[in-house]
Amino acid sequence: MSDVRPENMERITTKALADAFIEEQIAAIKEQVGDKKVLLALSGGVDSSVVAALLIKAIGSQLTCVHVNHGLLRKGEPEMVIKVFREELGANLIYVDAVDRFLDKLAGVSDPEQKRKIIGAEFIEVFAEEAAKLEGIEFLGQGTIYPDIIESADGVKAHHNVGGLPEELNFELVEPVKLLYKDEVRVVGSALGLPDSMVYRQPFPGPGLGVRCTGAITRDRLEALREADAIVREEIAKMDKTPWQYFCVIPDVQSTGIKDGKRYMGWPVIIRAIDTVDAVTAEAVELSWKQLTTMRDRIIETVPGVNRVLWDFSDKPVATIEWE
Ligand code: XMP
Repeated sequence: MSDVRPENMERITTKALADAFIEEQIAAIKEQVGDKKVLLALSGGVDSSVVAALLIKAIGSQLTCVHVNHGLLRKGEPEMVIKVFREELGANLIYVDAVDRFLDKLAGVSDPEQKRKIIGAEFIEVFAEEAAKLEGIEFLGQGTIYPDIIESADGVKAHHNVGGLPEELNFELVEPVKLLYKDEVRVVGSALGLPDSMVYRQPFPGPGLGVRCTGAITRDRLEALREADAIVREEIAKMDKTPWQYFCVIPDVQSTGIKDGKRYMGWPVIIRAIDTVDAVTAEAVELSWKQLTTMRDRIIETVPGVNRVLWDFSDKPVATIEWE
């Protein structure tokens, strides 16, 4: 499959169009893979979950899913992936705890593109190791989607799941949704019978909390981010219409505060909630004062190291959705 979406390709907006796409892809996957085995990076996000469901439908037990905990996942995420895919969907799932490996490699690295490259390279290492433990893996499944390809080509950012694998690994990529926009991936996911709670999950970037713990990642700031993120997600998910994406960022900045009558240098937590159709442009979502103050109070009371809460209500462009 080429990396360029044909101009006449119809936008997948209905179940019928999704079903046709699924049939097409099942045939294409069967033809590409034959009786060989595929290793899939299953982050638990919408894209890789939909690819997992497509691959299970196309090649069943020839698929092995690998969930890598790189230390940059959201609170409770590894547990949720294991529950849904291993226990409920019966997938062949390998869980790899690679937290120390990733965080040690990232220590002291502040350049965003360098961080993405390290995370991407380490992922490849982990997969190579897992593949080496299994017999006959020749393919790597990936949840690349079209905006990843466009933005990498534009030089906006190097998405870790675009750019190819080192040739010596001898993995061929299986990327069945790489020409789709996010909204189309969701329609396909629903047509595949995935639950709404998975299909309408907000997207989460491959480099995870790594791009939201800006600059050089430290374990204490990362932990604070994970806790604050859980609070922000919990509060914003209470909205009648939840935003397309909502999260927080802790930049590598400290400011002066006061605690117990003493100077208290702390990080700011920056709340971000946006709506978009295709992630190419985005609008900030209006949050109420009540929501903002509830999040502020919960964060300040429970997250160590934080002394301020801010709200980023910038649109894309000119800001991107993520901070890095
Ligand atoms: P930006 O920040 O470019 O984000 O406006 C657009 C959408 O892409 C997600 N994103 C990523 N996803 N790897 C990914 O898999 C990445 O490196 C990456 N960077 C951004 C972002 O969360 C948003 O949904």
